[in-house]
Amino acid sequence: MRQSSLVVVANRLPIDDSTAPDGACEWRRRPGGLVTALHSLLRQAPATWVGWAGGTGPAPTLPDVDGVRMHTVPLTVDDLRDHYEGFANATLWPLYHDAVEQPEHHRRWWEAYQRVNQRFAAATADVAETGAVVWVQDYHLQLVPGLLRALRPDLRIGFFLHVAFPPPELFMQLPRRAELLRGILGADLVGFQRAQAAHNFAQLAVRVLGLPATDRQIVVDDRVVRIGSFPVSIDSAEMAALANRADVADRANRLRRDLGSPEQVILSVDRMDYTKGIEQRLKAYSELISDGHVKVRDTVLVQVAVPSRERVGQYQILRERVEREVGRINGEFGRVGEPAIHYLTRPFDRAELAALYRVADVMAVTPLRDGMNLVAKEYVAARVDDTGALLLSEFAGAGAELSQAYLVNPHDLEGLKQGLLAALRARPDHVRKRMRAMRAHLRKHDIHAWARSYLAALDDNGSLLSRLG
Ligand code: UDP
Ligand code: G6P
Repeated sequence: MRQSSLVVVANRLPIDDSTAPDGACEWRRRPGGLVTALHSLLRQAPATWVGWAGGTGPAPTLPDVDGVRMHTVPLTVDDLRDHYEGFANATLWPLYHDAVEQPEHHRRWWEAYQRVNQRFAAATADVAETGAVVWVQDYHLQLVPGLLRALRPDLRIGFFLHVAFPPPELFMQLPRRAELLRGILGADLVGFQRAQAAHNFAQLAVRVLGLPATDRQIVVDDRVVRIGSFPVSIDSAEMAALANRADVADRANRLRRDLGSPEQVILSVDRMDYTKGIEQRLKAYSELISDGHVKVRDTVLVQVAVPSRERVGQYQILRERVEREVGRINGEFGRVGEPAIHYLTRPFDRAELAALYRVADVMAVTPLRDGMNLVAKEYVAARVDDTGALLLSEFAGAGAELSQAYLVNPHDLEGLKQGLLAALRARPDHVRKRMRAMRAHLRKHDIHAWARSYLAALDDNGSLLSRLG
């Protein structure tokens, strides 16, 4: 077994199986922040990515992706149902996002979560060389740090949570809260998107486990576990370069014409997820039309809503409700060839997204709760001429960083309407000033800065970073 000095462990591998038009199965790189985030670093070390390749059945053997070895962990049909769709996405996901949907608790799901985490830990123990740095990602794998430490005490283990982490009152609802906390505390460094999340975690360590804890460290079995916030970001330079490409600019111009050359385009890009505030946003837009503040002939909304976790009941219900509402709004306010909402569910690739970002005069990112929200950051990075207004939820991690956005509380319908109107009617010089400030922030706080600051904190004797150069 080939071993690596740097191992990333995430539920998904950074690739996706997709079926080619001729029916053959092919592998392609999966878009997404996590992949972009780690890609440049991983290429510089003999690195391995441990993850699930999607689907069920035996794990396929995959070729390296950009020099990074792909080590697959298989999931069975039961694992998919009880670990991925169950405990990860119907217990933890809603609970960690302010319980905007009711979390469900089933003992069978918890058993599957333990079993799958055990399998990931064992696979990681096999591929990590002595003294390797292992970086475990996200809520699907919170037991892995503890399980891995038991198997391989020589490793340096980091854990990073990409999603929000809830206040103690909510976390306390979890029947197996102590085990989950102990699992995470197997790491040497626990990273969150926001300082508030690190604070919540420290409070829980005191309350549930009775451990001595501050917002910076927790003492567990004579070990010091450091905790902190490391807001994840994007490859700002890459997005700006993409947005500047001539073919992307042409595509953006074509898109604007295809939309009927409206005065203003509002854009939203989400996974179809109840945390994203899609229904609230549609309601605000629809009321602005019926109140007479927005005219469909002048202003259109483009809503990209890519289906996600489609076998989970709450996601199916959401999709039905969103589609019914889009139909109602278009039926009521649209005209032949002039819909009020352009509603799209197919995934867009990076270049298509960059073109969409270039077309959008207002980008509406209004989740009810979001760990970070990379779409908001991508929009800013793509606005290379400093135009464009970002309407952003206070409840997205990005809201804490991008204070020059038009910040709104998406639970407050009137506030949401006012915020959208303010963004649509903002003076160009104000918009420019805000956008310039946000772009400058993202140039400095990009994905490379994020990965380096996390790994520097994890790798405190500097051995990995010195090898990475
Ligand atoms: N994305 C994409 N194609 C799409 C829609 C989204 O590549 O059609 C990407 C988007 O560019 C972003 C990521 O998916 O990098 C979504 O990340 P975000 O943090 O906004 O939300 P999440 O889906 O992780 O909750
Ligand atoms: C969020 C999570 C990721 C997850 C992604 C897509 O960004 O933090 O861990 O991979 O959503 O969800 P999916 O269920 O398709 O992996």
